[in-house]
Formats: sequence, C-alpha cells, structure tokens
Amino acid sequence: MFKSIYMNLFVTYLSVFLAIIILISFFMVSIFYREFTIQAEQNLENAGNRVNALMERYYNNEITRVELNSWINAMSYISNIKIYILNPDTSSLSVADDKDISLNVQIISDMTDIMNGATIKRMNPIKLSSEDEVVYVGMPLEYNGQVSGVILLFTPMTELNKISREVLNTMLGIVGVTILISAFAILRSSIRISEPIVEISNYAIELGRGREIPDIEIKSKDEIGRLGRSFNIMKKEILVAEQMRRDIVANVSHELRTPLTSIIGFLKGILDGVIKPEDEKKYLELAYNEANRLKDLTKEIVEVAKLESGSTKLNKERFVLNDLAKEVKIELDGMVSEKKLNFTLEEKVKNIVLFADKDRIRQVFINIINNSFKFTDKGYIKVTINRKDKNAIIQVADSGTGIKKDKISYLFNKFYTANEYGNATNGAGLGLNIVKNIVDMHDGTIKVDSEYGKGTKITIHIPIVFE
Ligand SMILES: Nc1ncnc2c1ncn2[C@@H]1O[C@H](COP(=O)(O)OP(=O)(O)O)[C@@H](O)[C@H]1O
Ligand SMILES: [Mg+2]
Repeated sequence: MFKSIYMNLFVTYLSVFLAIIILISFFMVSIFYREFTIQAEQNLENAGNRVNALMERYYNNEITRVELNSWINAMSYISNIKIYILNPDTSSLSVADDKDISLNVQIISDMTDIMNGATIKRMNPIKLSSEDEVVYVGMPLEYNGQVSGVILLFTPMTELNKISREVLNTMLGIVGVTILISAFAILRSSIRISEPIVEISNYAIELGRGREIPDIEIKSKDEIGRLGRSFNIMKKEILVAEQMRRDIVANVSHELRTPLTSIIGFLKGILDGVIKPEDEKKYLELAYNEANRLKDLTKEIVEVAKLESGSTKLNKERFVLNDLAKEVKIELDGMVSEKKLNFTLEEKVKNIVLFADKDRIRQVFINIINNSFKFTDKGYIKVTINRKDKNAIIQVADSGTGIKKDKISYLFNKFYTANEYGNATNGAGLGLNIVKNIVDMHDGTIKVDSEYGKGTKITIHIPIVFE
C-alpha cells in the first residue's frame, strides 16, 4: 500500500497505538463521568431533603422568612447548587438566587410528575438558558403529608467538563510524545531493515549487468542477515558458473580451431604446391581424418550441452544387455586388429534385462572401450557384464597406461584430459563427462580404478528397474 517499509510500519504502529489511546480515554472519561454524576446526584438529593426540613420549620414558624432565605443561600453557596422552591403554578416562592429561572420544556413536564409525589433525577446534562450545562433533581415540597410545591436543585457540569478536558489533554499529550518517539524508533528500525534490502537490490542489478560487486556486509543474524548471506552465496555461484562458461567457450573454440588449422594447412600446402604431388594423397588423408575428428568433436560438444541443459529425455525400453554388449564388441573388433590387443567380452550372467535408454547405454560402452583402445598399446581389453542384486554391472578393464591417482577425480570434468601426450590421443576430454551424465540419468554409479603404468578398470552400476 505504501511505497516504503518506513511508512508502512509507521502507519501500522500509529493506527494500533491511536486505537488503544482512544479506547483508554473513552473508558477513563466514562468512569469519571459515572462517579461524578453519582456524587452530584447524592449531593442534590441531600440538599433537597434539607430544604424540605427548613421549609417545614418555616411553615411551623420556627424560623423567619429571612432566616429561611439565608440558610438556603448559604447551602446553595457552599454546595454550588442552585435551589428553586416553586409554587405549583411555577411562581417562585423562594429563589436562592437573584436571577429568575426560565424553565425549559423538560422541566415543566417533569413538574407534573413531581406534583404527583415523584422525585425526578436528570443526570444527563441539559442546557439552561445561556448558562453552563446542568444536571438537576426535582422533588416535591411536602408539608403535613401534602405536596405543596416543587423543589428544583441544579448543579453545573463545569467541573466534570473540566476533568474530561484534562483527561483528553493529557491523552493528546501522550499521543504527541509517543508519535514523536515511535516515529524515531520506527525510522531507525525500518532503516535497519530497508537499507540492506536496497543495497542488495542495487547489487543484484549490478551483478545482472556483469559488473563486479563486493560481498554484502552482514550486520545481523536475523532474516535480513540471512538474505545478505544467501545473496553472497548466490553471487559466488554465479561467478563460478560464469567462469565455467568462459572456460567452456575458450575450450570449445580451442578444440575446434586445432583440427581446422591442420586441415587448412594441409589444403593450402597442396594448393600452393608446397606439398609434392606424390605426397598429396597422404596429406588429403590427414585432412580427411582431422575433418572426421572435427565432426565427432562437434557431436560431442552438442551432446554435452544437451545433457547439461537437462533437455534430453531418456528413451527407455526393455532390452537384453548381453545382446547390446555383443553388438558393440563386433562393431569395435575392427579397431583391435590394428593393435593386436586381446579384446574379450565375458558374460558372467546370461540374459540381463535392462529397462533403459539403449542408444545411450551403447554410447557408454563405446566411449569407455574407445578410451581403453586409445590408451592401451599391448595386452588386453576386457569387457565384463554381470548382475548383482538389483544392478547390472558393466566393467571395462585394460592393461594400458593407467591414470595418475591425483588426476582420477577430475576425469569426469569437461575438457579434462589426464594424459601427458598432449593431442596425440585426439581427445577433447568430453567422453567421460558424457558417460557420467548418462549414468547419472539412469541413477547409476561409475567408478574408476587405475594404476599408473599398469592399467585401468572402469565399473558402472545401472539399477535394474521396470516401469
Ligand atoms: N582407459 C584409460 N586409460 C588411461 N587413461 C584414461 C582411460 N580412460 C580415460 N583416461 C583418461 O581420462 C581422460 C578423459 O577421458 P575422456 O573424457 O574420454 O576424454 P578423451 O578420451 O577425449 O581424452 C583421458 O584424456 C585420459 O587421460
Ligand atoms: Mg574418450
């Protein structure tokens, strides 16, 4: 509703506070009011009874008219009560005041009841002429058991009004001071809340524009502090992701440029006649191989990107793992003959049925067996398939170069190659990353056991599930 936290808090607190103050004032004033009217009513009634007694003495000629008047005047003065003693026809018999009374409609109608013997108490203030508001009691003037007139007793409300006003003024004072104090307190606390939020939001914009920003300074342990901490963590993650993106772009362009440079070099050599005609075929073959490698590489890069974006869906089907392994074996047999390796497939368990993405599992086989071919010059490559509990196990062991221990944990990183032969093995370091992604998508595990100089063993577990 309000644009700033400050205004929001301020208005909320203030309205709650004002509501409380108003309620308290209301109750206090009404309590005063009740107490005061009870008191006033009592006084008026007592005075009325005393007037009745004086009148009786006057009628009995125990006191004179002058004495009666001075008694009544004294009483009126001391108690701040105006006393009127009226004949039934409302002509004043004795008025303890100089002024004439101008009776309002209410009182005139009450007179009839009083003449019938009733005592009337009007404690809701009424206005008499231009004077202050008054409350009054009217009672019959009795003599010898007969109603012979009316006694009216008025007392002004000035005092009560004064008290009420004082209560109100005090409350207003409290409200004023409290508004000042709370405005200040709320300002402080809302600045404490809003300042870091504004800071974080500004930094977020900067971060979005790719600018460098410092860490948010954490000043508190509350939610605001937590927001700052979360923001710092997010910033770190973004920077890491950004660095990764830069690395990948650099790696990809490097990986693509190398074969392209060779191809261009070979072709230019032929075109410029630098390469002898009898060597042309050899260099065309080299260019052809490089072009092929480039094709595979782009495929791999696209594959990695797709797997990482999470957009690839597994195309699961039921198939026999043994059959797939045999197919791959036949497909790759040709490569071995070049190197005279002992390439074998062992099926420890027959008829292992998997529910998985067959093409991707084939990719797993090909990638890890290809690695073994690349890094094994003599000896064996042994593929084993097995089933244990609820897992299918694929294992490829070779007697190749092996991998140094400190490098094993990086093998699944993109563009990581652990060999010291540079480009000699023609790998961009994406194969195992793809394998790991595929295994992960099947909720499986992959483990590398390797001894440098002796050989490598890759073991993959794929859970056997049927949906
Ligand atoms: N069977 C293996 N024997 C020795 N080293 C291996 C083997 N398999 C993988 N590696 C090491 O792991 C690295 C990463 O493998 P990979 O991701 O397939 O990339 P690439 O095959 O393109 O080099 C390889 O460069 C190599 O150093
Ligand atoms: Mg590879």
